[in-house]
Parts: sequence; C-alpha cells; structure tokens
Amino acid sequence: MRRSIHILYFAGLFLLSASCKNTYIIDDFEDGSLGKWVVEGSAFSYTPATEALDSNISGYKGSFFVASKNHGTTVKGHLTSSSFVIQKDYINFLLGGTPSPSAYVELLVEGNLIVTSTPSGEDHNLLDWISWDVSSFKGRKANIRINADFNEQRKGLIILDHIEMSSRPKSTYLDLCSFTFNASKKWLLIPAEDGSDNSILSILCEDQNLLNVPQTITPARKRIDYYIPIDISGVNSKMLNIQITKVKKNDVVRGNISQEDEYVFSYDEPYRQLWHMTPFHGWTNDPNGMVFHNGEYHLAYQYNPYGTRHNNMHWGYAVSKDLVTWENRPFILAPDSLGSIFSGSSVVDVENTAGFGKNSIVAIYTSAGGKNYEIQQQSIAYSDDNGRSYTKYGKNPVLTDHSRTDFRDPKVAWIQGQWVMSLATGQTISFYGSSDLNGWKKISEFGEGTGSHNGVWECPDLIKLKYKDQDKWVLLVSINPGGPHGGSATQYFIGHFDGQHFIADKMDYPLWLDAGADNYAGVTFSNTPGRHIFIGWMSNWMYSNDVPTKSFRNSMTMPRELYLKHDGEKIVLGNKPVPEIYDAFNLVKEVKNISVSDSFLLDPLLTENVGAYRVDFTIIPEQKGKFGFALLNDKNEKALFIIDHNTNTISLDRSASGLVSFHPGFAKNPVCSPIVRQASYKMELFVDKQSSELFINDGEVSFTNTLFPTSVYNKIQWITEDCRIIIEDIKIYTL
Ligand code: FRU
Repeated sequence: MRRSIHILYFAGLFLLSASCKNTYIIDDFEDGSLGKWVVEGSAFSYTPATEALDSNISGYKGSFFVASKNHGTTVKGHLTSSSFVIQKDYINFLLGGTPSPSAYVELLVEGNLIVTSTPSGEDHNLLDWISWDVSSFKGRKANIRINADFNEQRKGLIILDHIEMSSRPKSTYLDLCSFTFNASKKWLLIPAEDGSDNSILSILCEDQNLLNVPQTITPARKRIDYYIPIDISGVNSKMLNIQITKVKKNDVVRGNISQEDEYVFSYDEPYRQLWHMTPFHGWTNDPNGMVFHNGEYHLAYQYNPYGTRHNNMHWGYAVSKDLVTWENRPFILAPDSLGSIFSGSSVVDVENTAGFGKNSIVAIYTSAGGKNYEIQQQSIAYSDDNGRSYTKYGKNPVLTDHSRTDFRDPKVAWIQGQWVMSLATGQTISFYGSSDLNGWKKISEFGEGTGSHNGVWECPDLIKLKYKDQDKWVLLVSINPGGPHGGSATQYFIGHFDGQHFIADKMDYPLWLDAGADNYAGVTFSNTPGRHIFIGWMSNWMYSNDVPTKSFRNSMTMPRELYLKHDGEKIVLGNKPVPEIYDAFNLVKEVKNISVSDSFLLDPLLTENVGAYRVDFTIIPEQKGKFGFALLNDKNEKALFIIDHNTNTISLDRSASGLVSFHPGFAKNPVCSPIVRQASYKMELFVDKQSSELFINDGEVSFTNTLFPTSVYNKIQWITEDCRIIIEDIKIYTL
C-alpha cells in the first residue's frame, strides 16, 4: 500500500475581495493559507497545496489550490468555508480530480445542501470551470464545502481553486442549483435526449443519493426523446434534491422535470418485441445471472435504467415460468463504490457453502471501476427471497488480479466437488476453483494459440453435453470485435474438462455458435439438470448503441436448447428453440408442396399480422445454383435469405430490409456464413418486431439477425437461380 498524500492549502482571510465590479473572489488561496476555512477529518491538511503535490496537475490559477489525494490509505474529511452572502447570479470555481461519489464540492445555503459537483472525469489532473446558478439564493448566507472519502479500494483525487461570485457563468454548462421538491407521487420523470452530451444525475434525500452513486444521463437539451422514470414512491413526502451537472441555460430539461402518479412504459413503439425479453425501458446487453429456482427462470441482464445506450451498468431483472412470457421487475444490482455491475452468473447454493443460507441464490459478477472500467474484480451478492432482491457481500471483491484489465464475466458451476468459475481474462479463459464462493484459487488457463483472437474474449460458459452417450465439454467464448460479420460473435470449443483443465478436441477452430450477426454474450441457465437452456443478447456491439428504437434498446434471443450433433462433416454445437416456444405457437395456415423453378409468392402471409409469427417449411433443392426466400412488406422492403450451393454459404441481404442507415456496418455487406451442403433444409423461421431467428435442420445452423422494417413483413417470396426447388409443408403459426 502506498503512502497517502493528502495536502491542502490554504487561503487568506475569508473576506470577499472585489476583483472587479462583476466578480467577487470568494477565495483563491493565493496567500498560501486557509484563512477561516474549517478543516475536519483527515482528508485535507491545514495549508493549501502547490504543484509540488503533483506536477501533472494543471489548470489552476496562481500558485495555490486545495486538494486531497490518496493512493490507498483511508482518509476522510472535509473543508468548509466561512459563510458569505450570495450577491451574484453565479458561483464559478475550478475543479479537477477523479469522478467519484466520494469526492465532491457542495453548496450549503443556511445549512441546507443545495448542489453537489463532482469532477467531470475527462482529465483528472486538469482543473476546469464549474458554474452554479445561484440566482434564486441571492441575499442568503452560504458556505462551500469540499469533501473526500478515500480508502484502499476507493482511491481518488479532488482539487479546488479560485472560487468566485460573478454575474456571468465561466463554464458553458451550469452545474444546476438543484430542483428541490417534496416527493408526493410514484414516478419522477426526467426528460432525456438520445446522444446528447453526458451529465451526472444525483437525487439526494436526507443526504443519501437515491441512485446509490451518481449516474450518467443525456438530459434533454434540444428535444425530449424519452423520459427517465425513477420510482420515488419509497421516499414519499420527503424533500428531494435533484442535481444534474452540465446543463445549459436553455436546455429543455430545465423546467420539464415532473412527478407523476402513473407512467406508461412505451410498449407500443414500432420495434418493441412482442415475445422476446426487452427491458421496460432503457438499454440492455448481455443476459446475466440466469438460474432456474423454485419453478421460475430468473433472467438478469446488463441494464442502464437511466438511458438507452451502454452506461451505468446495473443488473436488470425479468422472471418467467414458461420461457415465453417475461415479467419485468425492478433491477436487482446497482453500481456502488467498486464500480458498475458487469456480467456474471447465479447459482443456487443448495448446501449453503457460502454461508448465506441453504438454497440461497448467489450472484457472482464483475465490479467494473476506474475511469474506463479498467479495474475489474469479481464480487458476490445473495438473495433469500427467490431472486427478487440481493444483498451484496460485505467483503467484496472476492477475486482480484491487478495485473489484468480485462478480467470479467464469471460463470460459475458446481463441477466435481467444487465451484468452478470460468472467467474471461484478456484473450484466454481462466478457471478458478472454490469451496465457498468467497475464496478463489486459479486452477488453469485455456485459449492461447487456438480459436479466434481478433478481439477480447468475454462471457465464457463451460457446459457438459452428451454426444452419443459420450460426455463432452463445450466452452462458449464470446469475442468482440473480430466476429465474422464485423463486431461481436460467439465462438465455441468442444473438448474435455478433467476438473482442472479444459482440453479442446482438434477441430478447425474458430467454430461459431450462430451463423448470423446478432447473437452475442449468450450463456446457459444454471440449475436445469438435463437441459442446457441458452439465451443470447440479440444484437452486435458494432451497432447496438444506434439501433432505431426509442425508449429502450435491444432484446434477448429466444431461449434455446444447446446440444451436440453431426452435420455430415463434424460434430457441431446445435441450438434450437426450447419445446416451450413451440408450444406457444398455434398453426393458422398451411400450404402443401410446391415446385419452384423461378419464384413463388405467398401474399399475404397472415390476414392479421402483428409482426410476430413463425414460418416452417422444408426446401429440397437440386445440388447446384442458389435458392432462398425474401420477407417482404407493402413498402417494397425485403430481407433476402439465400443459400448458395456454388459457395456453400447462407446469407442475408439487409440492404433494402427497412431502416438500415443508423449504422454503416449494419447492411454494408450481406451477413454471410459457410454451411455444410445438405440434401434438404428444414427451416423454422421465427419473426418478432425487430428480429428473425432461422433454425435449419433442428438448429444445426442457427441464423439470428435483427431487422427494422418500416411496416410488418407480410409476404414471403421463394426464389431460385439456376435450379429448381421443392418446398414442402409451408406452415404458418402465430402466438
Ligand atoms: C459483453 C460485455 C462483457 C461485460 C459487459 C459490460 O458484451 O462487454 O464482457 O461484462 O458486456 O456491459
């Protein structure tokens, strides 16, 4: 542990000195003393700092500033100015340091907390102007307080200089002087704009941040794209103080924050999935913490409740009894002082090995801290109320390795008498063993020199499957970027796990789990003996932040059964819909066998088409040429699926499929993958509002791709080129 340096420097007398008519200096610390500032605790010393603290610091004025810096020891305290009367519209000051909930400057008016500002975090060592609009407090007595609370885990820096009152703001942004109001309704609604500049949101109630730690939002500046709904029913009749940093004077968010008794989540937007899991609201990526317990499938997921892009990672939570309908529930894990909650898994601790209680659900996840999530450590939390809420373990993290920056996504299973964690470690998977889920010991590492290394390895899963009565182990490894269609994709290895080491069979790696572009970070549920139920994130990091939805972004794949089968050339990992999905669909239309030498159009597909259906058919082709089918709508948009026997590939051309211009990579090239030529192709195509999941020959090949048609595809046209095909048993099903 390195020595902590916590130095502060001092200011002169706390009399306001008029530097010019429009500006009063509250303090600039330039006389080298703290004057009447009151020092409490150990975070600040009794004299101001100079560049001797750290020569990398810049942006301060003159020679002196106040600062607290820590490299690992515990320091906690604050420094409070003597009181002054607010005489101007703005308070401006220079602030630098690490963005952290435990380092901030606050304004107190007559003892009441009005606003807190944290360093913006762009460059820790550079001080930048912060401006507070204090016009509504003119004539009242105020104090400024700087706080730091650092320890071994929470290292940090905060620097403050040149505090002035002025008739003009120095920063183009205002760190808002709070909206203080009495909470009396269920929802607090904060207007947001997709892709606007980031601000930091805190909601203080009796000095606690309701959001646990400050969250990044993109507040409405020019227009309102969506509202951020925050449930405040738990603090009804208390005073809330909302603070949003970096808001300009005319930003729309000002004056448009409201509280409401009811909030209708936009379930009716055009690309809202009808039967795949999507979050109520906000962003999602990877499925997490998938576990079957007490008759329910618990599905957590990477979740940003405060925006529609990747940020503020929580674990959102949905639950299902039938794997078809998902009940969205409040999130279960929120960021804390160790960082955001990245991906991980959950297990049922039947024997109470961890000491949280027999049959408790234990979640093992990555705490991702630091400026760019580079401090990745594994933490645990447990639930004794059937997954509805979690308590974080008091001694987190339980596994760290400071030599690694990509060190994440623990997937835990009980294997041969111990808990085994598969962990993504850069471009390998490391295995750790534990008897109690708290103490972990490394047992082996796999991956060097095999598979695809065109990106970072993520989200592993180690599962035991049968192939013709023989035990085989399969290791799933997601990789981003470097997927065959650009962006992200999931590869797998087939081999053997002896309790310590995973040894891959000699095969032609990389092998990809899905031939499509949109099936990533998928893993299996734990505690489903005899079944391996997989769910993936139905998107691709290349464009997932840009897809054209409004109040939410992205969805999960349908649950699929993983199994091993032979494709005529080799053993492959098949994935096919779980039986529950088949059960949910009802046959509504049938067309008998048709021979096609050019094209055949089925129009309409359904008389009432809400955008969710399944089409089954078998194609028996000649062994040459190209054939396939297109999904079409009344806007002439088409998603064209082709099997090419000249190249032995399957492809999907999305270039005219609907909305495509949101990202240049989405439809630039057809999504194209090699397949093994077959005598017949049994096709099962499942469509939802923004997705197509095609399973060929019982999931020997799965082809998962998102699509954004501007009206529902309600025709199918089969086509051929240089060949004739027979289409057998066209069957159309709806939910
Ligand atoms: C995979 C991933 C994980 C990480 C999470 C962060 O999509 O990058 O490795 O834990 O997403 O949201």
